[in-house]
Amino acid sequence: MEKLQPEPWRVKVVEPIRRIERGQREARLRDAGYNVFGIASEDIYIDLLTDSGTSAMSDAQWAGLMRGDESYAGGRNFYHFEETVRDIFGLPYVIPTHQGRVAENLLFSTILKPGDIVPNNTHFDTTRANVEVNGGTAVDFVIPEGKQAKGRHPFKGNMDLERLEACLAGNPGKVPVVMLTLTNNSGGGQPVSLQNVRGTRDVCRRHGVPLLIDACRFAENAWFIREREEGQAGRPIREIVREIFDLSDGCTMSAKKDGLANIGGFLALRDEVWVERLKNKLILIEGFPTYGGLAGRDLEAVALGLREVLQEDYLAFRVGQVTSFGEALAAAGVPVVEPIGGHAVYIDGRAFAPHLAPELYPAQALTIALYLEGGIRAVEIGGVMFGRPDPRHPGKETLPDLDLVRLAVPRRVYTNTHLQYVAGVVIDLHRDPAKLRGVRIVHQAAVLRHFTARFEMV
Ligand code: F0G
Repeated sequence: MEKLQPEPWRVKVVEPIRRIERGQREARLRDAGYNVFGIASEDIYIDLLTDSGTSAMSDAQWAGLMRGDESYAGGRNFYHFEETVRDIFGLPYVIPTHQGRVAENLLFSTILKPGDIVPNNTHFDTTRANVEVNGGTAVDFVIPEGKQAKGRHPFKGNMDLERLEACLAGNPGKVPVVMLTLTNNSGGGQPVSLQNVRGTRDVCRRHGVPLLIDACRFAENAWFIREREEGQAGRPIREIVREIFDLSDGCTMSAKKDGLANIGGFLALRDEVWVERLKNKLILIEGFPTYGGLAGRDLEAVALGLREVLQEDYLAFRVGQVTSFGEALAAAGVPVVEPIGGHAVYIDGRAFAPHLAPELYPAQALTIALYLEGGIRAVEIGGVMFGRPDPRHPGKETLPDLDLVRLAVPRRVYTNTHLQYVAGVVIDLHRDPAKLRGVRIVHQAAVLRHFTARFEMV
């Protein structure tokens, strides 16, 4: 971890963490059916399960909580929130929700009809589920480079414009919206270039289909554009962000990521067409349109977080921290998805544990070993999450192209020393992969099985 930048903050409050004994970790794993979602967070030492809702808030955000106006209608924090979203994203119609998936639920339950198709670079799992539950088909058109762990394409999150064009040309009237996920979480936290946003917009325009952005990690994506895209170096981040959203017709957002808040989200739109129906449904499932399932104080935290996330010293540290963490692993020969993504480091489970057949879920085996050896919680994004029964071969599964372990880095929470510790545990395991044992699923739910599946060691 050379050339580390210091954190652009100092610590005002601390939250103790502890590493329980190895024997206890073994027992916790057994009790949880070898699924780290089932372990209490007090028994986790370093928690890299997700970067969602896990950010540390700033002193200004904590102060903002005291300015919460908890009026049912017309609270002042809503106006601050709305004005902030309009100012940053340039989208006039702002609908607050308590997290990102509710924005997705509102959108797709309003605009989809059975048989419709929704293209995306890669749908996040809740986005896909919200499309499918409303009778739509979710299709992923990320460029081929984006499906490979190796190869250093600078914008592996880009949409394959030819496939998008063919889909829209071949399905007139059946595509109500095109989505673009910034950064591409399910594909390794990889960014989309500004040129690709423009290209996607042009294809959409030609076919009269609106383009919506899944904006969860919009600031990290803008930072990569500035760092990597020709002609963008040194441009103010605010300006890049604005250009991205000026190319869109709206966005869904989980403020639990680049909103630097612990809860919150929104749907923002350029045109009024869907707004009334969306607001009526919002009242039914979340709350009045000036709070949308959030307390006034939470709206205030998001409004402040959306500005803080655009500060350039923040972004330089944030993306720099994740990059140096990933590069320390790569330098030691650990097979990671490259280039390193914005919010997480992804390890290729099959390459890490070549002695385990893909059917034995090597990424899940690594997730278990990380907890057992180091008290570290990561998340499997591979065969367990995406495997599906193979209709042609009863008892077998079709497995995804990549079997990954995601080490997601919460924002402003862990220091570089914490991540050095994690890197040490991963590197030790990589030298001794025989410590990883394959697993078999002994219990699973019908949908989103990874949250509650139970395993047995093979
Ligand atoms: N879109 C993307 C790209 C996401 O990463 C997430 C959440 C959502 C939508 C849904 O937002 O959780 O607020 O409802 N991702 C989290 C993760 C859960 O761990 O990657 P939400």
